Amino acid sequence: MVRDYIEDELGRRSVFKSEHFLSIDYVPEILPHRDSELRSLAQSFKVLIASPGHTSQKFIIEGPVGTGKTAVAKRFAEQMVQAANRRNISLQKLHINCRVNKSTYLVYLKILRAFKPKFPRRGHSPEELLQMITEILDREDQYLLLILDELDYFIRQKGADILYDLTRLTDDRLNAPQRLSIIGVGRQIPLDESLFDQSTLSTLQRNILRFEKYDSKALYDILTERKDKAFLDGTVMNETLQVICDIASERGDARYAIELLWRAGKQADRNGVNTVIPDFARQAKSDTHPELRKEVFTALPIQSKLLLLAAARQLKEVRSAYITMGEVEEMYRTVCEEYGQEPRAHTQVWEWIQDLNAHGVVDTKRSGTGQRGQTTLIGFSDVPAELLEHFLLDLLD
Ligand SMILES: Nc1ncnc2c1ncn2[C@@H]1O[C@H](COP(=O)(O)OP(=O)(O)OP(=O)(O)O)[C@@H](O)[C@H]1O
Ligand SMILES: [Mg+2]
Repeated sequence: MVRDYIEDELGRRSVFKSEHFLSIDYVPEILPHRDSELRSLAQSFKVLIASPGHTSQKFIIEGPVGTGKTAVAKRFAEQMVQAANRRNISLQKLHINCRVNKSTYLVYLKILRAFKPKFPRRGHSPEELLQMITEILDREDQYLLLILDELDYFIRQKGADILYDLTRLTDDRLNAPQRLSIIGVGRQIPLDESLFDQSTLSTLQRNILRFEKYDSKALYDILTERKDKAFLDGTVMNETLQVICDIASERGDARYAIELLWRAGKQADRNGVNTVIPDFARQAKSDTHPELRKEVFTALPIQSKLLLLAAARQLKEVRSAYITMGEVEEMYRTVCEEYGQEPRAHTQVWEWIQDLNAHGVVDTKRSGTGQRGQTTLIGFSDVPAELLEHFLLDLLD
């Protein structure tokens, strides 16, 4: 009998009910263990709705990886918009990832395009864009709640002027409504005096909300919510959730916990069984690494991905913790050939390495004056080279 592979696949049973509840873009309605954080935000921002235009707010959300900073900021902004709409205040929210929009120009362009979607990409200065944003807000009697996510990365690269400029946009105008409020989000926002003017700095220092790592119990509650949405009833053993929480609680990282759960489910499907047993979670742990964050790597340009692939392969080959810049470049040329890309010159490659370093994707350091002479050494914090290689090959597919 001829085997119909497509029908086979389609007819295959799965432990999942809707996988998308485990995807990185999904923001749950309910965020267990973040009540008090959401309440603090509400206390500070309610004035925007209670007396619109009277004042604006600036807030910082800080905390380690996967502690719900982005999820909370997005969910909170959504609720603000709803509350405003119920009172006929036209408040918009906008989430900007400053890792992707990595210059003030691109951030302003993104803001402007929220109001004028077809606004051309080139032809204006950042100051002109800002001016247009102010005019539109005034003309249309709009308020804006801006979430600047991954702001720490941006500030380290470009400084903090963006906060100052955005603040001045409305704050300096006497008797005019203040229309723009900001929530800055990041692991650790460098609030130091050399970067900020005094008044922005003191406002921000008063308004920092720090998220702590989740403990095992909190992770368990978060995972249980997700499991109920994403999996068919009775497919995930309680012990499996326990194992995942134990693994992920070391970092307190909910993203990692959710990824482990998803991978464990995938493993069950691959094995054609309808129970997600603890062993699948343990296996998931060895197939991934919490540092390999898909949304960070996906946002990188292809050339940076190829460069990383080259570094991973070279590290695998030499089996040492660090490789030299020269070694990476040599491997990079081979990888470019493999992918039909034109390799770029040294200065460009060097810039990418600096950029990847700023992203926290690679570590760089100057070599000592040993045999290899003075050069830049490149390594990956604690991701095994082979795992990184597989991860990149998947992405490049
Ligand atoms: N309290 C929570 N309840 C439910 N899901 C949560 C909670 N906290 C985090 N998550 C989920 O965990 C994942 C990671 O959360 P999030 O992206 O908000 O982390 P983050 O603090 O912004 O991390 P990073 O610093 O890496 O940007 C997301 O899928 C998010 O929906
Ligand atoms: Mg985030």
